[in-house]
Amino acid sequence: TSYNLLLLPGDGIGPEIMAEAAKVLAALSDLGLAHFETEEDLVGGAAIDARGNPLSDETIALAKAADATLFGAVGGPKWDGKGPFHLRPEIGILGLRKALGLYANLRPAKCYGPLATASSLHAELVSGLDILVVRELTGGVYFGQPKEIVTLQDGQRRAVDTQVYTTSEVERIGRVAFDLARKRKNLVHSADKNNVMRTGTLWRETITDLHAAEFADVTLEHILADNLGMQLVRKPGQFDVLVMDNLFGDLLSDVAAMLTGSLGMLPSASLGDADPVTGSRPSLYEPIHGSAPDIAGQGFANPLAMIGSLAMSLRYSLDEPDLADRVEAAIESVLEQGLRTPDIAAPGQNAVSTAEMGTAVAEA
Ligand code: NAI
Ligand code: MG
Repeated sequence: TSYNLLLLPGDGIGPEIMAEAAKVLAALSDLGLAHFETEEDLVGGAAIDARGNPLSDETIALAKAADATLFGAVGGPKWDGKGPFHLRPEIGILGLRKALGLYANLRPAKCYGPLATASSLHAELVSGLDILVVRELTGGVYFGQPKEIVTLQDGQRRAVDTQVYTTSEVERIGRVAFDLARKRKNLVHSADKNNVMRTGTLWRETITDLHAAEFADVTLEHILADNLGMQLVRKPGQFDVLVMDNLFGDLLSDVAAMLTGSLGMLPSASLGDADPVTGSRPSLYEPIHGSAPDIAGQGFANPLAMIGSLAMSLRYSLDEPDLADRVEAAIESVLEQGLRTPDIAAPGQNAVSTAEMGTAVAEA
């Protein structure tokens, strides 16, 4: 099989880590099991500098046509806070999510074998941890109307954000979570605040109905979102797939992520709905971290989140689970060999560069 991937390195460390993902792709092609064609384009600040536009229509068209899109990161001090909103680097990512209709954000928090990071305070709690947060990405309080700050007659200001969900929005994200659970441990925890929010009630009822109608074979538990925050820190191993709205998912996926160590290790996937005619499903794969301007250009960024994102694209978009397993096993094996970029190195340990880490994964 031949696949066509769009690479959007972006800004800061984006191009450095994308080069390592490209090495791994080349190594996969060399196995002779599948062939990978890549195309590259500018996005974010790099595209502003070259074209005056962080996300061109041509880039969107390339992403729609590709079997999967790998995205590095966008933004940096050169552009931050400057110019009108529609000309900021962030539009490179927000605009792509919108244009591709990516409503499901998958954020695994997986603890690879021996973890030697300074932040791993609770090694026994997180050892072997493998959970997947499924976050609704295009609805909820970040997008609901009205959304405004108005000045009142007495001179105070009043801010409003509105949380809105429809049954179809909840159903489609629920379906993604249940489908994924069937390929994992068959366990879904759905988080909401049904005790104090109407959207929470709708969320819980919709997930309950969907479960009864289509996924009765999967174990479903409901949990209040604040309790989930506590349980994630107390005993994360009790969870497998977690599904929640945009706001809770934003917060709690960051909590789940940091259980496992460095930002530089964590991949993500964003999925939309399959086209009813072609069957192709829009998707975007990116590390959860940003462009890390503080370390850009030094050659020491951790490429594993980017390479892990590539593995997710093999699993979820290209339907090549064996190749995804191989890439993840390669990541695991280089960590077992003790290779560490500075962000995950133990104090005093010799660290390797971005390129050394990428080459080691490609060889493995
Ligand atoms: P950041 O994730 O870029 O960096 C936070 C800290 O983590 C920094 O100290 C950085 O050096 C470190 N770090 C991040 N990735 C790493 C890696 N792969 N290896 C080693 N260390 C790593 O977040 P920050 O500093 O808040 O934002 C920097 C820029 O990135 C801003 O312009 C922001 O808007 C943008 N950003 C872009 C995102 C995207 O493109 N999806 C997401 C988050 C931020
Ligand atoms: Mg966030």
